[in-house]
Amino acid sequence: MATQTESKVSERLPLTPDEQKLIETGTLKDSGIQAQPRDFYRAMRKGQPIFHDKGLDSWLVTRHEDIWAVQSDPVTFSVKHGYAEQYARGMHEEFQAYLREHGGGFFPDAIMSDPPYHTRIRRLMEQAFTARRVKELEPRLHEIVRDLIASIADKGRCDAVKDIAQPLTIRVIVEQLGLDHGMEKEISDWSSAVTAQIGAMQSRETMLANAAKIAEMQLYIIGKMKEREKEPREDMISDIVHAQVTNEDGSVEKLTFDEAVSLIRAMLIAGNDTTATAIGNLFYVLTTKPGMAGLLQEVVGDERRMNRFVEEHLRNEPPVRALSRMALKDVEVNGTVIPRGAHMLLVYDSGNDDETVFPDPRKFDMDRPNIGRHVAFGGGPHRCVGLALARMEIKLAAQEISRQLKDIRLAIPESEIAYLPTVATHTIESLPITYGKR
Ligand code: HEM
Repeated sequence: MATQTESKVSERLPLTPDEQKLIETGTLKDSGIQAQPRDFYRAMRKGQPIFHDKGLDSWLVTRHEDIWAVQSDPVTFSVKHGYAEQYARGMHEEFQAYLREHGGGFFPDAIMSDPPYHTRIRRLMEQAFTARRVKELEPRLHEIVRDLIASIADKGRCDAVKDIAQPLTIRVIVEQLGLDHGMEKEISDWSSAVTAQIGAMQSRETMLANAAKIAEMQLYIIGKMKEREKEPREDMISDIVHAQVTNEDGSVEKLTFDEAVSLIRAMLIAGNDTTATAIGNLFYVLTTKPGMAGLLQEVVGDERRMNRFVEEHLRNEPPVRALSRMALKDVEVNGTVIPRGAHMLLVYDSGNDDETVFPDPRKFDMDRPNIGRHVAFGGGPHRCVGLALARMEIKLAAQEISRQLKDIRLAIPESEIAYLPTVATHTIESLPITYGKR
């Protein structure tokens, strides 16, 4: 007998012939669906909310309530095994061997783990990103964002993703960690290489090319750790290298070397592509959705309205599409039994579009009473640990874009926008724009 989750069985709704066809033939592995996934998501939510995607051999969890139930139960739905299965899917052994040989070792992701181990590591990471600490960072973050946008304001045209969104988030994390400036290109390549490992779209060749980049990143991180071991500074690498974790019985232990490498790697990568994607998506809506630039202009000076603008943007255009879990036993979710050992994906951008929770979900509505219920940052014990920093960066970027730039337009037809081929995020690869200086 399968155990059951908290979520109720939802009513199955009749599908249109097009929706029926999508359900029968669609897979999230299809890059066309990845770029424009909303019809596929809606069809699943209506007809088969827990959907076995044959192209991926993964169970897609598409309704808000079910995502919530699964992410709140880390004992039945394992993050550790889910990520291990998804990472370099089908080639994980070879990936590990490559890093052992060329990257200073294979360091399993300490934060992508299950309780009780996860709880200890999580406590440590939370200290780095408390809302108070992020608030203290605001003046410096503001300076970084203001200067970056000022540096392109005169140019009249640029790539909003490569010239603004990516360097902005990289500069922030480089400064927090205490890494070297001027390495935007390398860090951007490293981030893409890590994100590709959970994207389920790699051939063996691309997996190995990406593993080579990750190896390079790990050697760089290890070098920095050695420097900080000798001479600590006021930065996050020093904090992690010298960090101690408190166990449940109150005893205290130093982080192991492997844990420290994996946490610095997580810090460097987790917040990078995701926040850059959110800022890239902001340019996308400002240039393609009528009224959005005017709305931003209207709320830019009002802190409370600005926060709601950012929240509704994250609901409407969530950067992270789908992340992994594994069912550790036969379990029934919303009337469908997911077998023990099956890989699952929590499809956050479908959850954020769930019309039973967010009526008229495509509407940008800053006055939604449940604006904070979105799952762009996940939920439960693995809820994004960097969300205060991410929100702050997006808010500052939106404010400075609005203050320094005007008449922002797409420099290519909307139909030519290229999306990264990956199941993990919904990321615009490149977004050429034109604009004037205010
Ligand atoms: C808009 C930007 C961001 C989005 C949309 C985002 C999204 C997410 C999501 C959906 C999760 C849940 C993972 C899961 O349950 O499997 C997560 C976890 C995490 N995020 Fe973020 N994130 C963002 C920015 C950041 C930043 C700026 C950092 C730090 C520098 C960060 C660090 C992390 C870490 C370390 C975890 C793992 C937490 C855990 O497993 O306990 N994220 N994020």
